Amino acid sequence: MVRTPAKVNLGLRVGSPRPDGYHPLATVYQAVSLYDEVKVRPAPAGDFSVTVTGEGADQVPTDDTNLAVQAAKRLAKTFTVHAGVAISIHKTIAVEGGLAGGSSNAAAALVACDALWGTDAGREQLLRIAAQVGSDVPFCLVGGNAVGSGRGEEVSPALARGVYEWVLAFADGGLPTAEVYAELDRMRGTDSLHQAQTPLELMGALRSGDPFQLGMALDNDLQPAALRLRPSLARTLDVGEEYGSLGSIISGSGPTCCFLAANEDHAVDIAVALSGSGVCRSVQRATGPVPGAQRVS
Ligand code: C5P
Repeated sequence: MVRTPAKVNLGLRVGSPRPDGYHPLATVYQAVSLYDEVKVRPAPAGDFSVTVTGEGADQVPTDDTNLAVQAAKRLAKTFTVHAGVAISIHKTIAVEGGLAGGSSNAAAALVACDALWGTDAGREQLLRIAAQVGSDVPFCLVGGNAVGSGRGEEVSPALARGVYEWVLAFADGGLPTAEVYAELDRMRGTDSLHQAQTPLELMGALRSGDPFQLGMALDNDLQPAALRLRPSLARTLDVGEEYGSLGSIISGSGPTCCFLAANEDHAVDIAVALSGSGVCRSVQRATGPVPGAQRVS
């Protein structure tokens, strides 16, 4: 079995779209302790299938568009493996939650199939295949704290100190990533050109290991677009802030709202307040950073 974490974008700067439609990014990812699990079983050549259980399972496609299936197929093609695979995914990470749940499953499928087929791909090759599957997949392989550039797929470790306590508030229903980027483009209009500048203040805060500094530096260019598409998230953010979170941010394209706490007790207080407030579907605590895709059996 391979388990992979969710990600939070502590900072996400988005540039104007490239000719291929993707947006150049400068982002700082942190992997947090909310995990999906992926198991693989051998199957006859050409037979790629997936079953999904757990949180939001009915919203996950089980055809060829499933990112774990795409990842397995790309690995098989790269190494001319004449085999198929039966993938089973158990989800805890909210679907279309801005937490890289699908990408996380793709990263897990790569690591699991690499072991099943004995392809011994190695880190660089896995990262290359991961980048072809989706922008967040390479980060889900490496985990920890990392800076993402390109369309998010070029990752390098970020210097960081500390373990951070998070409270995640899940919304009813997801937000499709492509729609949130499109809304940002609409809001910005075509008059000015935007560059994705590295969030230096945030990187300094991460190096300091001080959650108060980090809380103040959280910043996501996609947040106004996610709020425009889902105005009720403003209330969720307000409640976390009323209970003294050190900083709040919508993760990636949303709609999951993330609150940074000063310590574990503080995280429990914020989680209880959010749970009782009716402003979100459910609440979970997590810590970060944690490692990326890991074989656990
Ligand atoms: O790379 P991934 O398939 O995860 O991206 C999903 C969608 O999000 C893309 O089709 C694109 O519309 C949008 N996206 C973007 N710029 C990025 C990453 C994603 O516009 N850097």
